[in-house]
Amino acid sequence: MKTDKTIRTHIVFSIAIVASALLEPCANASSIVGTKHDLSSYTNSSGQICIACHTPHNAQADQLVPLWNHAATTTQFTLYSSVTAKSVPGQPTGYSKACLSCHDGTLALDSFGGKTPAGAGKISGANNLGTDLSDDHPVSFTYDTNLATAHPGIVSPASAAFVDTAKTVPLFNGKLECSSCHDAHDNQNTFFLRKSNAGSALCLSCHNK
Ligand code: HEC
Ligand code: HEC
Ligand code: HEC
Ligand code: HEC
Repeated sequence: MKTDKTIRTHIVFSIAIVASALLEPCANASSIVGTKHDLSSYTNSSGQICIACHTPHNAQADQLVPLWNHAATTTQFTLYSSVTAKSVPGQPTGYSKACLSCHDGTLALDSFGGKTPAGAGKISGANNLGTDLSDDHPVSFTYDTNLATAHPGIVSPASAAFVDTAKTVPLFNGKLECSSCHDAHDNQNTFFLRKSNAGSALCLSCHNK
């Protein structure tokens, strides 16, 4: 049975949670600080933020991302396929592999700076995409004019419309990656999206539907 005191405690907690939720957007404006990518609690007592993903020296040799400091996933992923898709997704490379090094749920978050800690602190729940990407938007494939010609409804990356939006939905080495839709550093549009998906605007940058 709940006593008056526990109920009061719950109310105080609820108010605190609502208040922090209201304050969050201001605190977050174009900064990692306070977002889910602020992993400073895993880093060191000086509260460094970048170090969980980048280092100025002795970066990972694989260079998934510039000056990358996090261990890389070794998962062989199950890839997206469909009868209508014309793209040929490969095993995640570069920027997508970097994201999946935390988001496939196989590596502990503090596997950075050459550390290989034991299993604690892996991503779980909805933010864990797992090792099966067949139910996720395809990534790590070449997105060029041939693909757009082969698949009606896909905006050509050479078209004026795409070039206008390319600032917000970039390709990397000509490939669509997680970072085409997301920016790991900026949570202003929620879910670290490069552009708001209100009215499906993000999707419509590339899909003429
Ligand atoms: C949770 C992981 C993560 C953290 C923390 C992080 N980054 Fe990044 N960073 C990335 C990823 C992933 C990319 C690849 C591009 C992208 O997704 O935005 C990147 C790319 C970059 C780039 C190259 C591309 C560009 O935008 O110029 C720079 C510079 C950079 N980060 C700086 C920083 C700095 C400075 C910090 C700390 C304030 C930081 N990052 C913290 C993951 C992270
Ligand atoms: C160093 C580890 C790490 C890397 C690298 C990383 N993330 Fe995350 N990300 C996290 C953690 C931790 C969370 C919060 C997980 C939770 O609370 O369930 C998170 C949360 C998220 C969320 C959910 C945000 C929300 O508000 O619910 C998105 C979207 C996301 N990450 C996308 C990405 C993308 C895209 C990349 C690569 C460009 C990336 N992350 C790279 C650790 C990482
Ligand atoms: C084509 C665009 C696109 C690509 C590519 C993409 N995402 Fe997302 N992602 C989104 C959108 C849009 C959302 C927000 C979904 C919502 O509003 O519920 C999202 C949400 C998420 C979330 C939050 C949990 C969830 O399932 O809603 C995570 C974590 C995430 N993405 C990680 C990634 C990673 C890692 C990759 C690369 C393997 C990736 N995303 C590739 C568009 C994309
Ligand atoms: C950066 C460009 C880009 C963005 C943004 C984008 N897509 Fe895609 N999407 C593509 C490309 C390119 C393909 C691959 C088409 C192919 O393989 O023929 C694709 C594939 C798909 C497919 C599978 C098509 C098939 O035939 O199997 C669906 C469904 C889809 N996207 C929905 C979405 C939705 C929903 C959003 C918004 C959350 C979105 N996309 C955002 C470029 C994008």
